[in-house]
Amino acid sequence: MAGLFMELGGKRILLIITGGIAAYKSLDLIRRLRERGADVRPVMTAAAQEFVTPLAVGALSASHVYSDLFSREDEQDVGHIRLARDCDLVLVAPASADLLAKMAHGLANDLASTVLLATDKPVLAAPAMNPKMWSAPATQRNVDMLRADGICFVGPMRGEMAESGEAGLGRMAEPVEIAETAAALLRGGDRPLEGRTALVTSGPTHEPIDPVRYIANRSSGRQGHAIAAALARLGADVTLVSGPVTIPDPAGVKTIHVERAEEMHSAVLSRLPVDIAVMVAAVADWRVATSSDQKIKKQAGDAPAPLILTENPDILKTVGHHVKRPRVVVGFAAETQDIEENALRKLERKGADLIVANDVSPETGIMGGSRNRVKVLSPTGVEAWPDLTKDEVADRLARLIAERLAER
Ligand code: CTP
Repeated sequence: MAGLFMELGGKRILLIITGGIAAYKSLDLIRRLRERGADVRPVMTAAAQEFVTPLAVGALSASHVYSDLFSREDEQDVGHIRLARDCDLVLVAPASADLLAKMAHGLANDLASTVLLATDKPVLAAPAMNPKMWSAPATQRNVDMLRADGICFVGPMRGEMAESGEAGLGRMAEPVEIAETAAALLRGGDRPLEGRTALVTSGPTHEPIDPVRYIANRSSGRQGHAIAAALARLGADVTLVSGPVTIPDPAGVKTIHVERAEEMHSAVLSRLPVDIAVMVAAVADWRVATSSDQKIKKQAGDAPAPLILTENPDILKTVGHHVKRPRVVVGFAAETQDIEENALRKLERKGADLIVANDVSPETGIMGGSRNRVKVLSPTGVEAWPDLTKDEVADRLARLIAERLAER
């Protein structure tokens, strides 16, 4: 399929779907796995079938859907032991609190739990549940036990739940994230950034004018968040410093939330030293020098209140010239004209090893969109990458950073 790496080509994934509202996302997950070349064989619990139908799961996976431990037909077809072993990875998504508890204690009273007990293949679980259920001591004990048994996890993430007013840690990781974690796991031990630390900035900053007004920009944080997740998948210990965004925190990453450039600057400096810094945030160049503690009122007949601006600290430049400079420093250059020349100047001025330049003219749809077309500049040359999704750009960049780090 054009534009996608067939990173799961020929891999067989046994996908266990348990009951939960996130089960609807499993339909998208099946698509994501298949477009990466995987063969998907689904197993559904009885509760999962209350949320999505075996018909939909079967149609999207182009496979028989297994659900009954005691089905004579299914047992004659493959049998639960072969089902558990005839695959490269067992993926549980969504993984309910109930199934995690069964897995931790070795219960096997339906097809899904029996397969999990019988498998000799790696198991990846994407938990999804109400935040209270996730943080319950029993669930946390089960997760610790499962981790000790070698079960891998992706997510859960922080965000809105299906139940209104309930927010917190418990949302299932996004299907793309799960597919990429599955691919990373199947690459097997391919974690070139294991033991490395990384710092990523992402999103816009908000510079207050008064308590209710601020200066902002159109950055969505998608590219920066994707890079943080991609570095984590390669094994790095990642801290993401994010400005105000509406997208969820990426899985497997520590996220620090800030509003203003000055806050982002101090959050970044407080985390040094690290091995890798990728500064993706669209930091506001200026803040309001005279920001008011009270809402600025308009006075009849008066001219509009003037905004006096003052320059914000340049975070990338500070990091690029710091005594604790990371071994690889990457910046972004958002340009609307003379992209290469401007990016090259930024490379020198900011003390970066790489600058990822993109054209953010409105007609490109890059700012806020899901795709990106970038040029990667280093002191030794320029590489133009094809039109890719922001996740693909993130994966490529994380690999490039790993190679650079290995060279030194
Ligand atoms: N950057 C930063 N701190 C700032 C401004 C920018 O860390 N105060 C970083 C961005 O995260 C990005 C790079 O610098 O990695 C380039 O940002 P950009 O806005 O394109 O460049 P500017 O330095 O602001 O230059 P100009 O606006 O003149 O293009």
